[in-house]
Amino acid sequence: MPRWWQGTVGYEIYVRSFADSTGNGLGDLPGIREKLPYLADLGVDAVWITPFFPSPQADHGYDVADYLDVDPAYGALTDLEALIDDAHGLGLKVIIDLVPNHSSDQHPWFKDALTGRDAEHRDFYVWKDPAPDGGPPNNWVSHFGGPAWTFHEATGQYYMHLFLPEQPDLNWTEPRVHQAFRDILSTWFSRGVDGVRIDVAHSLVEDAQFRDNPKLDGPGPADDSPQEIFGSFDHAHDLDQPGVVDIYRDWREVAEPHEAVLLGEVYVLEPEKLARYLQGDGLHAGFSFESLKVEWDAEEIRSALRAHVEASGAGLAWPLSSHDDPRAATRFGGGEPGAERALAYFTFLCGLPGAPFLYQGDELGLDDGELDDDAAQDPISRRNPGAKGRDPVRTPMLWEPGPGFGFTTGEPWLPFGANRHEGQTASAQQGDPGSHLERTRELLAVRRTLPALTDGSPASWPIDEGAVVAVERGGEVLVLLHVGDDGGPAELELPEGSSLAYATHPDVLLLDDDRLVLPEDRAAIIALPDARVVTAAEEDEVAADLTQAQLDAIAAEVDVASPDGDGGRGGAA
Ligand code: GLC
Repeated sequence: MPRWWQGTVGYEIYVRSFADSTGNGLGDLPGIREKLPYLADLGVDAVWITPFFPSPQADHGYDVADYLDVDPAYGALTDLEALIDDAHGLGLKVIIDLVPNHSSDQHPWFKDALTGRDAEHRDFYVWKDPAPDGGPPNNWVSHFGGPAWTFHEATGQYYMHLFLPEQPDLNWTEPRVHQAFRDILSTWFSRGVDGVRIDVAHSLVEDAQFRDNPKLDGPGPADDSPQEIFGSFDHAHDLDQPGVVDIYRDWREVAEPHEAVLLGEVYVLEPEKLARYLQGDGLHAGFSFESLKVEWDAEEIRSALRAHVEASGAGLAWPLSSHDDPRAATRFGGGEPGAERALAYFTFLCGLPGAPFLYQGDELGLDDGELDDDAAQDPISRRNPGAKGRDPVRTPMLWEPGPGFGFTTGEPWLPFGANRHEGQTASAQQGDPGSHLERTRELLAVRRTLPALTDGSPASWPIDEGAVVAVERGGEVLVLLHVGDDGGPAELELPEGSSLAYATHPDVLLLDDDRLVLPEDRAAIIALPDARVVTAAEEDEVAADLTQAQLDAIAAEVDVASPDGDGGRGGAA
């Protein structure tokens, strides 16, 4: 694992919706560059930028026509280089989004593949003869609706696509595909990129015999939405196949000389299966999708996250929200109550081994944007009228009060949402200690002062049942989340000498007799009596390029007296 990854807090930028520097309504790279100081102030360590490569945008950039350049709609390669330079100057790492499962149908490889069965790049893609009845070669379906196969008249074969027909799957049994991606990675790492988020990292390899997927037992799909139909199969033969991790073993050789991280979008929920990607010399890190799925339910949060930590440990990344899933604030009830719970939940994620990830706007307490159906841009809803798409999580950022919310001076490519208001903007929240923005900033600052939260210290789970979920790190730090059971505030006895390092709300109290009063929907970080504490000033000085051993040595030298006990922000205790 690259040394810098240890303790990282990530931030996902959905490029189309982050900041528009030209007024054309579409976010772009110079827009991101302007906002880097905001991200550094927020206290994140790494940004993951969604695809900005030349693309026909059939799936908003996840259909790549050139893996090595920048789409003119988002800027130029020089803009990206300037962005990387500025980011590094601010101590931020830059992770780009690599899409190796499929390319665009406009990629020169695919255009060539269509020219004939003997075309040079024919085998870069997955081609099969029709079934005896002339239909698709097997029963696989696309994530975005319809069969996973499209017939190409001129050459008389079907090509495979787990997503849109405009996103043909690459053929990872073809050695030239392996070589092409080694070269792509090597080019980006030489350009200064610090890592790649690997799109659908569990999907690259297919069953060698292309067998049908079994249908799951049960009532079958509840409706004809692509999500329901996809979910009605046991994906025994098209996803998570043996051999996929070998690809990442190979990529490590490319990444490691550059200290670059391989972070997989491994959409595999079973803990042991996910762990296979992260063990030994596989991926350095992978997202836990349980983190995005759990309901506001103590038992579910405790058991799901614990199982992932126990199987995979510090290799996990913990997204609060993403550009594909409902935002945490929406999942947890919507509006202000949902936002309060989302901050509490994120505090808990900050207590787990691994890398917590914010999605743009989470720090402002945003829930999903309310959009009219006719605003649909996501191919899921455009192709399947009535199907729930991902647009509500992709509405543009709210920077400042005003018609374009500081995102654009023009018409945004997607509306902001009827539920948006000026108080949610970054500028309205800046400097207000009770705002989501300032409370998130405080959380990240406090996390950095407690090495047990960032150095991979082992996790234990001191509370087995009830409405409070707790994780303890290295016997030094305890992070508590009260999910609530309508029973009112929880009272917990803490060891003498514990201190309240952070609370999501001032109504969390640490009393003189070491009892913690934790109301529902709140979280707290407790420095236990033996906690190492690095002050913010020292933390700034030690900077990112010290080794953990050096950091530990510094922490041991400084005064490790417990923090002042008045909570992470004024009056929390
Ligand atoms: C991933 C991306 C998603 C995209 C899909 C196909 O799941 O996060 O946005 O549509 O892959 O590339």
